[in-house]
Amino acid sequence: MTTTDSAAPSSAAAEAVTREARRRRTFAIISHPDAGKSTMTEALALHAEVITEAGAVHGKAGRRATVSDWMDMEKARGISITSAALQFAYDEYVVNLVDTPGHSDFSEDTYRVLSAVDAAVMLVDAAKGLEPQTLKLFRVCKARGLPVITVINKWDRPGLDALALMDEIYREIGLQPTPLTWPVGIAGDFRGVLERRTGDYVAYTRTAGGATRAPEERMGPDAALARAGVDWTTAVEESELLAADGADHDQDLFLDGITTPVLFASAISNFGVAALLETLIELAPPAAPFSYGDADAAGRRAHTREVSEPFSAFVFKVQAGMNTAHRDRVAFARVTSGVFERGMVATHAQTGRPFATKYAQAVFGRERTVIDTAYPGDIIGLVNATALRPGDTIFLQDPVMFPPIATFAPEHFAVATSKDSSKFKQFRKGIDQLDSEGVVQVLRSDLRGNQSPVLAAVGPMQFEVAQARMESEFGAPIKLEMLGYTQARRTDAASAATLASVRQVEILARSDGALLLLAPDRWRMTAIERDHPDLVLEPLLAGDS
Ligand code: G4P
Repeated sequence: MTTTDSAAPSSAAAEAVTREARRRRTFAIISHPDAGKSTMTEALALHAEVITEAGAVHGKAGRRATVSDWMDMEKARGISITSAALQFAYDEYVVNLVDTPGHSDFSEDTYRVLSAVDAAVMLVDAAKGLEPQTLKLFRVCKARGLPVITVINKWDRPGLDALALMDEIYREIGLQPTPLTWPVGIAGDFRGVLERRTGDYVAYTRTAGGATRAPEERMGPDAALARAGVDWTTAVEESELLAADGADHDQDLFLDGITTPVLFASAISNFGVAALLETLIELAPPAAPFSYGDADAAGRRAHTREVSEPFSAFVFKVQAGMNTAHRDRVAFARVTSGVFERGMVATHAQTGRPFATKYAQAVFGRERTVIDTAYPGDIIGLVNATALRPGDTIFLQDPVMFPPIATFAPEHFAVATSKDSSKFKQFRKGIDQLDSEGVVQVLRSDLRGNQSPVLAAVGPMQFEVAQARMESEFGAPIKLEMLGYTQARRTDAASAATLASVRQVEILARSDGALLLLAPDRWRMTAIERDHPDLVLEPLLAGDS
């Protein structure tokens, strides 16, 4: 604790905040598109009591429009780019499910979201196993040190063998799966699960359309054998095989990212959803304090803002034009310490300016509700927070500034020019806005001038978003001319002077001040590194490798 001034919270208040933080579980679901993330979100909400927005979660037909209707492109492709948080109560706990974009082109966005959660649920389609986007996002979780709970979904449909799926997880991502439940019946014939901790059989009963919580019936081994016969025996044998292999849950190994508890589910039939909620409550860590200050070689930071200290929050996402009804700019922040009270005037760490929090909202899809109070782990949407950027900190009393969110290495580059030269003012405003939200990275050089900045992206779909928004929101349609670079390294001014004379490369400045060297391919970049071992050429965070 570093609270020393007179306005420091009393110890009773500090204890109350700590209690609130302990009953918070803040997580995100990572999955490949179509693995069932939206269906699982709905199923979780059905099992719990949605706090901030009753009715925010709609059936499939309404969902696409509900979660994100702010851009035609999203509708056309059926993907969700916007993200927000769904909050619900389960038993004594408050669960915050933070939404992540569905498409791999927005993995940098997902990375930012994952900086705001304490755990991730990796949803795997039983028929498809680990898919590219799941793998990519898993690596992000690993880089962030997030514990991962795995859910094998769609077990009601024919799919892969359960043991083979466990092997695949271990082989592909090096996490030791430690199943908490084991399916009784093969994929496509989902009767229930063997709960490995108790040895009980939890039998599921299908309900029409999966519209209500599926009834569960718990029984001991004898009754299970009588009910499920050979399927039960097989499940028991396989579970014993797993135990012999050391595939049993160990909380420390899970928190250290060495093992992943596994559950089998059918989100559409609401099977295994209660087990997921209980696992989140029992095993996922509560709202953790955030660290700041210089990092040591192992990445540990010098200071920690304890959850009981005065209010602070970390902005992980900024989104404008979320839908037609609210054409405004919302900064999403995770409360990291203290109590948030709407109306409080915090300080914006990056500028030192006061920041009024009068318009704080919970945002889930199109639905918004006013937030009056929030605790560590909760997500607040700060409306019209024009000064806030992803990675920023706001705080009360003792100053704190959390480390910025690392940016990914862009792999696609395009020169943007205004289609209509009379719209330059709008063009500039729009480009700056997209830059500050992190929709694309914006690179500039004297050579190219302000009229033709280079947009840099991890995935090309980011360009489509930029183009669509420049036209619809800023009235400044742009032309994009792709450049032949795929590699970027961070350099410094001294090295840039030498690199300026190197063939096939270009040096541009990013708006955060970083100088980037762009090269056409890995081969060329390696050659430059070899020819100039004395120059600064730092790799950027790889979203993709
Ligand atoms: P996403 O958000 O991860 O992209 O996936 P989403 O929930 O939209 O689910 C993708 C498809 O998979 C949907 O089918 C959904 O109904 C189906 N699905 C999700 N969970 C399960 C499950 O546990 N079992 C089965 N059998 N299917 C599941 P769709 O054909 O795209 O839509 P719909 O017409 O079936 O609603």
